[in-house]
Amino acid sequence: MKKVLITGGAGFLGKRLAQAIDWADDILLADITEAENPHNGSRTTIADVSKPEDIARIVTPDITDVFHFGAVVSSGAEADFDLGMHVNLDGTRALLEACRALPYPPTVTFASSCAIFGSRGGELPSNAASRPESSYGIQKACGELLVNDYARKGFIRGVSCRLPTVVVRPGKPNLAASSFASSIIREPIHGHRATCPVNGDTKLWIGSVKSVIANFLKAHELAQAESLPTYRAFNSPGITLTIHEMVDALERAGGDPSLIDWDFDPSIDAIVSSWPAALDVSPELKIGFTQDTNFSEVIKDYVQIYG
Ligand SMILES: NC(=O)c1ccc[n+]([C@@H]2O[C@H](COP(=O)([O-])OP(=O)(O)OC[C@H]3O[C@@H](n4cnc5c(N)ncnc54)[C@H](O)[C@@H]3O)[C@@H](O)[C@H]2O)c1
Repeated sequence: MKKVLITGGAGFLGKRLAQAIDWADDILLADITEAENPHNGSRTTIADVSKPEDIARIVTPDITDVFHFGAVVSSGAEADFDLGMHVNLDGTRALLEACRALPYPPTVTFASSCAIFGSRGGELPSNAASRPESSYGIQKACGELLVNDYARKGFIRGVSCRLPTVVVRPGKPNLAASSFASSIIREPIHGHRATCPVNGDTKLWIGSVKSVIANFLKAHELAQAESLPTYRAFNSPGITLTIHEMVDALERAGGDPSLIDWDFDPSIDAIVSSWPAALDVSPELKIGFTQDTNFSEVIKDYVQIYG
């Protein structure tokens, strides 16, 4: 029996991951908010990973696979230091402890972020050391270290998958500093105004929902492999684009760029500028991770589903 727990299961990626899993007997979406329209068959529960009683309720002895998405995202963790530490660090540790207590080591796949690298300009080597420059990046880097050590000790079979900024995110923006990267495409496509808080020549490391979900599942598959690198973290391949290049692709897809208001926000710019704009992902591509080839295709996919 494959029994899956997805924390942050009411969120953007958690829900899409549940849709993509076709091998589970049971999927539980656990989140502090109720998941709207969960995938057929998924169960939902309100649970806060920073509360021990909630963790005890959702990490039942029959759980085989845990996908840990529940988090206070970038701008949220920067704005509320205590909440970020409590959920992203203490909550991750508590979840891992509960997994350690299970009769068999479950497979744990942790949603890390390219924010763990910090900004250093140019293309970073795939094994670049973590030097985060934001509270969120530091909490994700600590989460990776914990997952790695719990896996090394045999308490879990675990990996971290470092995600690029995922574009185009449907629906409402969240508290991620990168949320605008989706808004500047999504809103004009629907004929609405959007605000861009960074300069047009800012470079972003981005991935589509499709590639990120495929790569997260690839990381999960690798977590179960007999031999893994000593440090169990993979970079989900992204592509590098400037905001101007993204806006050009929007125009080619029929969106009106004049609906974008350019309103520089130093606090968002500081967080986004602390992330790398490019990573060497050749090791991941060799072992079966996927990479988007073309941003216009990414927009086309969005329009087909949500346009
Ligand atoms: N989307 C991206 O661009 C991106 C990039 C890098 C990393 N990530 C990581 O991927 C994961 C999913 O991101 P997303 O884009 O779906 O964000 P999201 O905001 O849509 O989902 C995160 C979910 O976590 C939930 N959550 C917050 N605090 C919680 C708590 N204490 N207990 C349980 N759940 C809690 C939220 O309610 C939300 O539904 C996050 O860990 C995020 O840091 C996302």
